[in-house]
Amino acid sequence: MPTALVIIDYTKCEPCVRAYTRAVYKETFKVSRNYSKECSLRKSLAFFGGLNLCIKYCVDQVVFADLEDRLEITLRPRFLLTSLQDLIKYKMLVSLNEILPRARKKGYGVGAFNTSNLEITQAIVRAGVELNSPIIVETSEKAIKYAGIENIAEMIITIAKKVKVPVVLHLDHGRSFDIVRACIKNHYTSVMIDGSHLPFKENLKLTRRVVRFAHKYQVSVEAELGRLAGIEDDISVKRDEAIYTEPDQAKRFFEESECDALAIAIGTSHGAYKFKGRPKLRIDILKEIANLVKIPLVLHGASGVKRKWINRVNRFGGRLAHTRGVPDRLIREAVKNGISKINTDTDLRIAFTAGLREYLVKHPENFDPRKSLSYARELMVGVVKQRIEVFGSVNQA
Ligand code: G3H
Ligand code: 13P
Ligand code: ZN
Repeated sequence: MPTALVIIDYTKCEPCVRAYTRAVYKETFKVSRNYSKECSLRKSLAFFGGLNLCIKYCVDQVVFADLEDRLEITLRPRFLLTSLQDLIKYKMLVSLNEILPRARKKGYGVGAFNTSNLEITQAIVRAGVELNSPIIVETSEKAIKYAGIENIAEMIITIAKKVKVPVVLHLDHGRSFDIVRACIKNHYTSVMIDGSHLPFKENLKLTRRVVRFAHKYQVSVEAELGRLAGIEDDISVKRDEAIYTEPDQAKRFFEESECDALAIAIGTSHGAYKFKGRPKLRIDILKEIANLVKIPLVLHGASGVKRKWINRVNRFGGRLAHTRGVPDRLIREAVKNGISKINTDTDLRIAFTAGLREYLVKHPENFDPRKSLSYARELMVGVVKQRIEVFGSVNQA
C-alpha cells in the first residue's frame, strides 16, 4: 500500500469537516490552514471515498500527494454543498464506473461526446440535462493541446458541477502514461489509454500500469483492443490495416489488465468517411465478445454523418463529400448486443460547421461571434439530443 500525504489546506466550514471526519475516521482532524497528516492507506479506498464526500461538503482544497508516484493532485470541491438535501439533489462528476455498469445491465448506451471549446461543451451538457441523461464529455490529446489542459478541464468542471445529471470528464485516446497522469492531476474522472497500435503484450503492459495508477485516484480506465480505420489524433490507420477485435484476446485482455471498459473494433472508423459500400457492423463478433467480457464495451467512430447535415454544410458554401456514417438502426443493434458507451465527434463538428456557415451567410452584416456561435451551439444541442434518444439513455440520470 502506498503512503499518502493528505493535506487539508483550509475549509469553508470548519464545524462540518470536524463532525464529518470524526464520524468517518473516528478522530478529529485538526482543521487549520496547511494542516497535514501522514497516514498509511491500509483502507485506501474507504479513505478516499470518505474524503471525497468530505470534499463535496465543504473542504476548499485537498492535496493528495502520493509519495510513491510523486504525484500531487489538488482536488477542488466539485460542489460546495451546505446541506444533505443538496448532496442528494445534485449529482457530481463521476467516473465511468458509476454509470456504465448500470447501462450495460439495463441495456442502454451512454453517449461520449468530444469537445474542444466552450460552445461544444455547453451543448453536450445542456442536451444531457434536457433529456435527464448521464453524459460523458471527452477531450482528445489534440483538443487538450488546442485549449490547454487546465483551461479545458476547469471549464468542463465548472459547467458540469452546476447540473443535476452525472457527468464524466474523460480523456479520449490517451497514448501515454504521461497524458493520463496530467489528466488525473487536472481532475479528470476517467481516462482512456489507447495502446491499440501496440502489439498485444505491450498494450496490456501499458494498460495495466495505467489501471494501477488511475485506480488509486478512483479514476476509471477505458482501454482499446483491435484497430479502427481512420484518423485520430495524428495516427492514421488505412482501411485495410484495420483489425477486428478477437473475442478470446479481448477476454484475456480485460481479465489481465483490469480495465473498466473496453473499446472494440467491429467495423466502424473515425471521421466522416467510414464505409465504402453499405454500412455494416460485425454484430456477430460483438455478441461473442459480450459473452466473454463482462465489463462495458465501447464503440468508437460511431457518428451517423447524416446526409441532411452534409447538405446543410454544402448549401452554405461547404464542400463535403457525400458519405455514410453508422445508421441509427446499427447503433441500436450494437447497444442491444452489449455496447454501453458510444463515441461521437464528427457529427458535432459537422453540425457546428453547418451552423456557422448558415448564420454567417444569412447575416452578412454580423460580426459578433456570439451570435454565430450561439446558432451553431443550438444545432449541436439538437444533434446530441437525437443521439441520446438513439442510445436509449433518456431519463437514466
Ligand atoms: O477519436 C478521434 C476523435 O475524433 C478525436 O479527434 O484527435 O482530431 O481531436 P482529434
Ligand atoms: P466519430 O469520428 O465517428 O465521431 O468517432 C469519434 C470517436 O470515436 C472519438 O473517440
Ligand atoms: Zn475514438
